[in-house]
Amino acid sequence: MVKTKQLYEGKAKKVYATNEDGVYIVSYKDDATAFNGLKKGTIEGKGSINNRVSNHLMGLLHQSGIPTHFIEELNERETAVRAVQIVPLEVIVRNIAAGSLSKRLGLEEGTKLKTTVLEYCYKNDDLGDPMLNEYHIKAMELATEDELAIISSYSFEINKILSEYLLDLGIELVDFKLEFGRADDGSIILADEISPDTCRFWDSKTKTKLDKDRFRRDLGNVEDAYKEILKRLMGV
Ligand code: C5P
Repeated sequence: MVKTKQLYEGKAKKVYATNEDGVYIVSYKDDATAFNGLKKGTIEGKGSINNRVSNHLMGLLHQSGIPTHFIEELNERETAVRAVQIVPLEVIVRNIAAGSLSKRLGLEEGTKLKTTVLEYCYKNDDLGDPMLNEYHIKAMELATEDELAIISSYSFEINKILSEYLLDLGIELVDFKLEFGRADDGSIILADEISPDTCRFWDSKTKTKLDKDRFRRDLGNVEDAYKEILKRLMGV
């Protein structure tokens, strides 16, 4: 399989078309951004860690019956995935108050939420990814009612599978972001990545942050946190 054309370059990844029909290659970068691109930097080794962590977790979800875009890890930084049309939504799942939820609702970071909270944001950099509810999504035809039902049900299921798996490894899944895509048969499948860039991972005993908040908040030891996640998940 060879890359033919670069289709997209985002903050943390590039996506290429390939000579195989319906297959893209995702290439993970070490670049890091936060606050909608206002803060920029590099996290050494991040690309290869996120590639492996995301593929590992996608594999776990696949075994549990969640359809994902993952096909095959090609090398340290690159993965073959099913070509999809991305649904322009960021689906945020929250178990514990942190980040923008704490700020918006005045909830102390670390407060366990009584029920899992699902939020949708409109994937639009120019608008700063504003939050949406289901009415906005239907009114703007970003997803159909059926697609939204599948997306929310997969999101809760993914949360259950990942939370239980990670807790066994001493990691609390505080919150995370998912993106879904439409495959060529029209079905909804999990796309994008699941990594320390897109999840809040806390050590379950010490509550140490093992994710991108170390970069966002200048907490130091960013690379070590990413490596620790890789080590707990894959023993390397
Ligand atoms: O910033 P906020 O608290 O809303 O983030 C919630 C979760 O979604 C965090 O785990 C964060 O890493 C993730 N997220 C993301 N990409 C965004 C916004 C949030 O991965 N554009």
